[in-house]
Amino acid sequence: MKAVFTVAGARVQVRNTEIPAPKEEQILIKVVAVAQNPTDWKTIKLARVVGAIVGTDYAGTIVGLGPGVDEDKFKIGARVAGLIHGSLNKTGAFAEYVLAPEHSLIQLPDTWTFEQAAQLGVGMTTSCQCFWQSQNLPKPFVHPTSTPIVVLIWSGATSTGHYAIQLAKVSGMKIVTTASPKHWDRLKALGADACFDYNDSQVSEKIRVYTDNKLMHAVDCISEKSSFQKISDALSEEGGTISCLFPSPYKLRAGVKTKFTLTYDLLAEPYKFPKVYNPRVEDKAFGDWATNLISEVLKTGRIVPLPIRLYPNGLESVQEGLQYMEEGKVSGEKITYRIADTPGIGKN
Ligand SMILES: NC(=O)c1ccc[n+]([C@@H]2O[C@H](COP(=O)([O-])OP(=O)(O)OC[C@H]3O[C@@H](n4cnc5c(N)ncnc54)[C@H](OP(=O)(O)O)[C@@H]3O)[C@@H](O)[C@H]2O)c1
Repeated sequence: MKAVFTVAGARVQVRNTEIPAPKEEQILIKVVAVAQNPTDWKTIKLARVVGAIVGTDYAGTIVGLGPGVDEDKFKIGARVAGLIHGSLNKTGAFAEYVLAPEHSLIQLPDTWTFEQAAQLGVGMTTSCQCFWQSQNLPKPFVHPTSTPIVVLIWSGATSTGHYAIQLAKVSGMKIVTTASPKHWDRLKALGADACFDYNDSQVSEKIRVYTDNKLMHAVDCISEKSSFQKISDALSEEGGTISCLFPSPYKLRAGVKTKFTLTYDLLAEPYKFPKVYNPRVEDKAFGDWATNLISEVLKTGRIVPLPIRLYPNGLESVQEGLQYMEEGKVSGEKITYRIADTPGIGKN
């Protein structure tokens, strides 16, 4: 098969390699489309492994089941999406075939194309971790209470924010978000009740007034620079909890807690970058629960994908896409590659 490999100089190159064989509780997927995340270029640049397969998010069809896989749940030919830990070893997603643990697979309704579904893995599972692993917020399919829980989703135009807003909506939460004003109409259509500009110097005060000084829950979808402080200032006087995607470098005021989460943990596979992680049974169980939930929520038709930026040459376009993202040009869109667009790969 062809796959995108890391090469010297933190660059990537399409090369041929063996199709992997599924081991215990693993599933082999023939990939149709893949989507790019910031973790892809960051891991390539920071970990600097040479000879690893790049990529985290994918969608495709099941072509092989390893020993111990639940064959009633996962059938050959089924349409699935998910995430794996790319750019560190030979398990990356930007390839013709990927191997994934069965508890990490999202089952796709026919209404989602593979190009759309390729973006579900990281965005959806990270949102689930922020709401239901880091915090105990209301869940989908539970009748909403008469006074909905208010959640602040900071940087709602990110991929993570896009899915967090929609999951919060189907869970009956009231959603306050921040984003550049050009995204506000789109985010309101996804379910945001109020939008604020994260660049507004009064943003925290405005959110505090809007939430009547009662905001207790936030998800920080950017977790960089000033976001921690600004969210902390927007929370109620007594404080609250911020789910974050990087650990806070700041000591925040009394009563404000941060809960850092990393999407890779729910794969429950050991890794040493960007931290040392040893598998935990509760992460595997959470991964199973979250991917089942996502599969059910997708069936409702209430979740929509981010606008897609499709690159023309499949895996051969990855270097270009990584650079575009590293330059900070991504804004409310998902870089996507179709495997069959790669020169030298057939369209069958
Ligand atoms: N811990 C984890 O497991 C995990 C999981 C997913 C992502 N992440 C990390 O979370 C971050 C977001 O990833 P993503 O894929 O969701 O994002 P993305 O789709 O690449 O985000 C693009 C958006 O970032 C927003 N943005 C840029 N600078 C900002 C700032 N200073 N403050 C607020 N918003 C800003 C822009 O919003 P506007 O267009 O509104 O300006 C832009 O639309 C990345 O750093 C990624 O590595 C971590």
